Amino acid sequence: MNIILFGPPGSGKGTQAVNICENLSIPHLSTGDMLREAVASGSDIGKKAKEIMEDGGLVSDEIVLSIVKERIAFKDCSNGFVLDGFPRTINQATGLDSLLDVSQKIEYVLRIKVDEEDILKRLIERGRSDDNPVTIKNRFKTYNSQTQPLIPFYENRKILFTINGMQEIEKVFEDIKKVIGL
Ligand code: AP5
Ligand code: MG
Repeated sequence: MNIILFGPPGSGKGTQAVNICENLSIPHLSTGDMLREAVASGSDIGKKAKEIMEDGGLVSDEIVLSIVKERIAFKDCSNGFVLDGFPRTINQATGLDSLLDVSQKIEYVLRIKVDEEDILKRLIERGRSDDNPVTIKNRFKTYNSQTQPLIPFYENRKILFTINGMQEIEKVFEDIKKVIGL
């Protein structure tokens, strides 16, 4: 099963991706995690990504598509995968289409819907390096302007499912399981 987890910063994409991946024994592909690893390793990609991530902007489509292309070609993705935080622009979504072969089509785009005001507290409490009020505000701005347009994009394909993310973690997962038939 190939799944996209979609939603604003702090909506629970990573948390629910772990649950789904454990349940289905498929890999968790988080572009945020991959980019943080690149930053930590000091690679060329990491150097380019660092400042953008600290600002709460988007790393270029070219870079992100190249890391996803490389990862999705690994053998462990042949039985399915969960994409977390990718795609984030229309250009990334069409780029993803061309990376996938016919047998790899995306079956579910799970949109975790949350209230922005309540999420701020969650993120401040977690305290990742981009979880400061200024960066969080920018991450939301970026989401609203560049990522939200993917909602009608996937709605048109009839693969977008909205999940209420303002519930306990276990309840959110129960709702996801119902949608994907687990
Ligand atoms: P990324 O790492 O993807 O960050 P994000 O989208 O801002 O989302 P988060 O990881 O903060 O939140 P989440 O939805 O995973 O929630 P989580 O489960 O952690 O991206 C970081 C940066 O990398 C971007 O800003 C950008 O610069 C760059 N980047 C990444 N992908 C890119 C792309 N495709 N293109 C370009 N640039 C890209 O939960 C958050 C907290 O809430 C946790 O503490 C968790 O325990 C808690 N929690 C979760 N669910 C619940 C619940 N139901 N109730 C209460 N608490 C909960
Ligand atoms: Mg995450």
